[in-house]
Amino acid sequence: MIKIAIIGFGTVGQGVAELLVRKRDEIEKKIGKFKVVAISDLTGSISGEFKLEDAIEIRKKGKLPEERATSEIVEQEDYDVMIEVTTTRLDESGIAYMKTALNRGASVITSNKSIAVALPDLLKLAEKKNARLLYEATVGGAMPVIRLLNSYLALCEIRSLNGILNGTCNYILTRMEEEGLPYSQVLREAQEMGIAESNPTADVEGIDAGIKLVILANTIGIPAKFEEVEREGITKITPHAFKVAMQKGFTIRLIAEANRRKLRVSPRLVKINSPLAIKGTLNALLIHTDTAGEIFVAGRGAGKFETASAILSDLYELFRCSGNR
Ligand SMILES: NC(=O)c1ccc[n+]([C@@H]2O[C@H](COP(=O)([O-])OP(=O)(O)OC[C@H]3O[C@@H](n4cnc5c(N)ncnc54)[C@H](OP(=O)(O)O)[C@@H]3O)[C@@H](O)[C@H]2O)c1
Repeated sequence: MIKIAIIGFGTVGQGVAELLVRKRDEIEKKIGKFKVVAISDLTGSISGEFKLEDAIEIRKKGKLPEERATSEIVEQEDYDVMIEVTTTRLDESGIAYMKTALNRGASVITSNKSIAVALPDLLKLAEKKNARLLYEATVGGAMPVIRLLNSYLALCEIRSLNGILNGTCNYILTRMEEEGLPYSQVLREAQEMGIAESNPTADVEGIDAGIKLVILANTIGIPAKFEEVEREGITKITPHAFKVAMQKGFTIRLIAEANRRKLRVSPRLVKINSPLAIKGTLNALLIHTDTAGEIFVAGRGAGKFETASAILSDLYELFRCSGNR
């Protein structure tokens, strides 16, 4: 029986729980029986004998019932894998939970982009403890990139990565391109639609894309730090810039680029027929390799079930050969 602890029970945590309920039969056929033994977030915790369905309903209505702190759950509960889906903050909270789990020999699956500040250390710790750290959901939501790089392309030299890693920026730029509207108006409308946060800084200044770029770079063996990313956001782009670009067969996209020489997030001219001229909230990644040529992936970079699906994919990866069935 696989014992799972869910740490963080907001959008993604509840999405994972709902998929575990809805797809239990399919999941168990593929990886064997599982049980969620504990759930915890800042409202409280639930552990011991409980039904996952009930935990979801309780949290939707308010707080989790036990007053045990998350750190206590992480330190004391008996679990094989921790699904760590707490808020991304480039401080220690989520990372401390991951370190505790790994030190106890449990594996960690996370969507928490805070790993950008500690990925090499966490991977080393996982190896030392004979556990695994899987983080497909941190970059590009449902778009499969981490395992593509780590596994399918493991024996290729990755010469460069060029990605659209922030759906909010891509949405804003697409509407500016298509409707000739100014940045501030599109941002306001995106905020009203829930596509942009009320404080949009992390998205529009390229911080979120930069964090994901650091995760990707470390994944392909470039020991990058967030401070090393050259970064420029989309706030200064005008409808006029789009008009000029379009007349010459280009559009403008926020491109996150990594190669051995530089890490950069900035607005760039992209040919209209390039796959990177992708529209709306989609994410995309163009991978340039030595032997496999160019590989392009695209998909939904965020969303409750999209992100949860990447977590389930990691769960499958972790237990598919475990003989747990
Ligand atoms: N949503 C997406 O589409 C998406 C896509 C890719 C990656 N991610 C990443 O996935 C993570 C979860 O995202 P989300 O959308 O589910 O966020 P969310 O709805 O804000 O949920 C975050 C959860 O973490 C809990 N939490 C925060 N700090 C904690 C701490 N120190 N200890 C214990 N619990 C803590 C929160 O508790 P309270 O509710 O009590 O504050 C909440 O239950 C984030 O790191 C995010 O960047 C999200």
